[in-house]
Amino acid sequence: MSASRLSVAVLASGRGSNLQALIAARDAGELPVDFVVVGSDKAQAGALQLARDAGIPTFTLNPKDYPSRRDYDLALFRRLDASGAQVLVLAGFMRIIDGEALKPWVGRMINVHPSLLPKYRGLHTHRRALEAGDAEHGASVHYVTAELDGGPVIAQARIDILPGDDEHVLAQRLLAFEHQLLPAVLRLIAQDRLALLPPDRIALDGQAQSEPLQLRNGVLVDLSPARLSTTRSG
Ligand code: GAR
Repeated sequence: MSASRLSVAVLASGRGSNLQALIAARDAGELPVDFVVVGSDKAQAGALQLARDAGIPTFTLNPKDYPSRRDYDLALFRRLDASGAQVLVLAGFMRIIDGEALKPWVGRMINVHPSLLPKYRGLHTHRRALEAGDAEHGASVHYVTAELDGGPVIAQARIDILPGDDEHVLAQRLLAFEHQLLPAVLRLIAQDRLALLPPDRIALDGQAQSEPLQLRNGVLVDLSPARLSTTRSG
């Protein structure tokens, strides 16, 4: 993968700020990928407009047009297969994906989620962190498996919860870190440095990781006891 640029598809349901961060990283020469398609379940998703503005092909598939989740997801993956994408990024794609349908993409599909997984799978993660009285919050990028928000975590960004934070303020502050985290992980994949070790671990540069990588000052750091190093190279 590292010899040529990685072909990447993105699925997004909403405003698309994570997609925008990926496009910006590519434009800055920090992300050696080609975005071959952006798909959505929502015709009005801001992400689609961002993609069009960047000259990336788009498509919308409306779940209401399909008799079941499985039928929808199989159609979705047919579109993604046809795009020639090697890797799929879920950047705010707010649907549960059928476990059978996603099987061919396991190990090639990542998701950004606004919590320190395994905490707070699903929705309202910021509110739940505040209600629990947590001292810190964060975001995770993980490989997607059949388990909702449950695949092996690749990397995390951590932030302190501050006095006076409400759900909105916390979400906004975290988002800025998501925008660093997702491109940094995709960069490792594009450099062919990352792999899923089935069923539930990841390997960096061929070595199994005991802990997710951590984002520090915009750089992914390996804090595993055996290997203390940053991952920035090349
Ligand atoms: C992001 O905060 C992302 O982590 C979250 O949706 C938001 C999308 O924002 N994803 C999930 O909750 C997935 N379970 P964006 O459209 O501006 O990128």
